[in-house]
Amino acid sequence: MKLTPEEQQMLDGAYGRATQKAMEILVALGTIYDAERMVPVTSVQIAGVSYDNLGEAGLHFLSEMADGGGRTRVLTTLNPAGMDIENWQALGISEEFARSQMLVIDAFARMNVVTTCSCTPYLIGNSPHFGQHIAWAESSAVCYANSVIGARSNREGGPSALAAALTGITPEYGFHLEENRRPGITLEVKVALPDNDDFGALGVVIGKQLERFKQKPIAYILGVDQASVENLKSFCASVATYGGAALFHMRGVTPEADRYAPPDEHITITQADLDAAKAALTSAESDEADFVSLGCPHLTLNEIARIAELLKGRTVTKEFWITTARPTKQMADMMGYTRSIEEAGAKFAADTCCVVAPVKGRFKVLVTDSAKACYYAAGKNKFKTIIKPFDEVVLATLK
Ligand code: F3S
Repeated sequence: MKLTPEEQQMLDGAYGRATQKAMEILVALGTIYDAERMVPVTSVQIAGVSYDNLGEAGLHFLSEMADGGGRTRVLTTLNPAGMDIENWQALGISEEFARSQMLVIDAFARMNVVTTCSCTPYLIGNSPHFGQHIAWAESSAVCYANSVIGARSNREGGPSALAAALTGITPEYGFHLEENRRPGITLEVKVALPDNDDFGALGVVIGKQLERFKQKPIAYILGVDQASVENLKSFCASVATYGGAALFHMRGVTPEADRYAPPDEHITITQADLDAAKAALTSAESDEADFVSLGCPHLTLNEIARIAELLKGRTVTKEFWITTARPTKQMADMMGYTRSIEEAGAKFAADTCCVVAPVKGRFKVLVTDSAKACYYAAGKNKFKTIIKPFDEVVLATLK
């Protein structure tokens, strides 16, 4: 790779051991992917924050980078941690886990990472704009940033995202290059999509179509005329989970779609496809559930306002986690939504989510509106799942 004099100095150790290690990671990555040079990034988002996923080895790596003088050069935020950092006791998290999780957060804080733990950084101030190069790690957020915002990011691993944060650069390959953003297959949607769970199911259908190809094409989606931020975050999470997609174009919705004509290879998506996907996401035999969660990806303020409206003056009878970013929760506090929700007996789980928290073995059946949450609830936590539209999920807590 061709390095600038400053990049070469970082690699030679002039900026300390942690920065040198970071450069070594980036040069290795760039060499594997034939990148010619590095490109400056304006924003980083790091995944691999939950101690449940990191374990002692991950904590050791982060502590070493912090001790080695690693300090961020660009705005950097975190993916969800394994617990609500302020309110972990209420979620049944053990003290031992909390202690280890706080050591992880502390290591990031020492490196000047902004320790908001969220998979929707674009909702809370880590908001790139069109055309900017970034290095994000959370798959749903990478898909949102590339597709909906038009920023340029590969899906980074935890170490490569941290390396980008400590150097301010990333190897120029993959989605950083214009030629790799061209669509390869048209998917025509002939279905109404009224709610987040429909967009999640659409992500499953499209994701599985993409999975059939050895070299996955970028989807060019027709027939979706309108999609809210909430719908798009649900779709991005799902198509990234079920199809490994980090970029799609949606005509009339995403900013790069008009640059391209629909590719010749064409698949139509029908109501029957969507119904089959939804049926497969529900694996529980009955409607009985012991765990309810909304906020995969993390909820917007609008969604929290809707929950508060539905729960006002009522009492929930099930464990109900509302997962969101801490700054969004703080706005909910200001607006009085938190009070209505907590008076009803539901719990905020800020900074975390029902997938990365250590909940395996605590529950049997999860109700959610998220196709991605269904995937990991079944795979990681061995729960049965039920998917429903957003309002019906809230109402399911009242039975
Ligand atoms: Fe976010 Fe957790 Fe879902 S990280 S996308 S809420 S699995």
